[in-house]
Amino acid sequence: MAPDKRPPSAASLREKDTVMRAINEYTITDAAIEQMAATPNARMRQVMESLVRHLHAFAREVDLTPEEWLGGVRFLTAIGQKCTAHRQEFILLSDTLGLSALVNALHDKRASETVTKSSLLGPFYRQDAPMMKLGDSIISRCQGTEVVFYGRVVDSVGSGIPNALVQVWEPDETGHYDLQKHDPSLMDLRGCFRTDSEGRYYFRGLCPLGYMIPMDGPVGDMIRAQQRHGYRPAHIHFVIGAPGYRELVTALYVAGDAHIDSDTVFGVDESLIITVNKSDRSSPLPNLPSIHYDFRLAAARDQMSGRVGADPSQITSRVAENRA
Ligand code: BEZ
Ligand code: FE
Repeated sequence: MAPDKRPPSAASLREKDTVMRAINEYTITDAAIEQMAATPNARMRQVMESLVRHLHAFAREVDLTPEEWLGGVRFLTAIGQKCTAHRQEFILLSDTLGLSALVNALHDKRASETVTKSSLLGPFYRQDAPMMKLGDSIISRCQGTEVVFYGRVVDSVGSGIPNALVQVWEPDETGHYDLQKHDPSLMDLRGCFRTDSEGRYYFRGLCPLGYMIPMDGPVGDMIRAQQRHGYRPAHIHFVIGAPGYRELVTALYVAGDAHIDSDTVFGVDESLIITVNKSDRSSPLPNLPSIHYDFRLAAARDQMSGRVGADPSQITSRVAENRA
């Protein structure tokens, strides 16, 4: 049969109008979700559907105005523009909104055994820190009180895990990481160690100090607008991994810090609070103050990483790769 080339009649257009869904502030949510229904990746479909539902509910709840949404777009644009191979403003945003800590808590809940709690990776992790020998110092340029960090990396029943990779990093005595310095390619206060045959580790570092998160970008503007102090309590970061175990991303926090109960990025858990021992005869270097902590790793049930974030240079290079 030849195709009908006549224009649609007014009556048929009216009929079409009546079956078309009226888009209003409520029906828009299902309409948007229906358009995504053919997404072949089931997990992506689930995540995006839920995101749209919650995002729309948020806009309705606060009765979002066009100017406010434009302000939000400007804010997110500024966050993206602040990101470089050495700076990750999006991770900082996720951290300061409590989203990173929430994702960590969900990750911990999926572990099959009770093990050391996760804490934030933060924006200053680097994956190419130098490999060092047990007992070495991670301090190359900064000044401050030297301490020895020591303990064991064990499994859920307390057996030592030999040859586990222990990556550590901390800020200097002015509260800055090497990545925040004039020449971010110069490394300081970070290193990688392998546990010995009984799962023991020890190294020398700076006695951790508290510091302010980077406040010179859009996240800092948000923190000031909310009248938050912007401090993190004194801490040192760890990423610990071994074949057959879930990678542990965590940090140790120093007891007594003024901001231990009000961390700007919600990283502190009571089980991660340590004290500095000024005279510790069990320490491998008894002449130095010590911080002792044993890390417990869960058996790996899956290959899922516990890192809420990454080395900033890796994030920017992946974005470039996906564009190419
Ligand atoms: C950090 O501990 O390095 C950090 C974590 C989150 C935001 C800023 C800094
Ligand atoms: Fe930190």
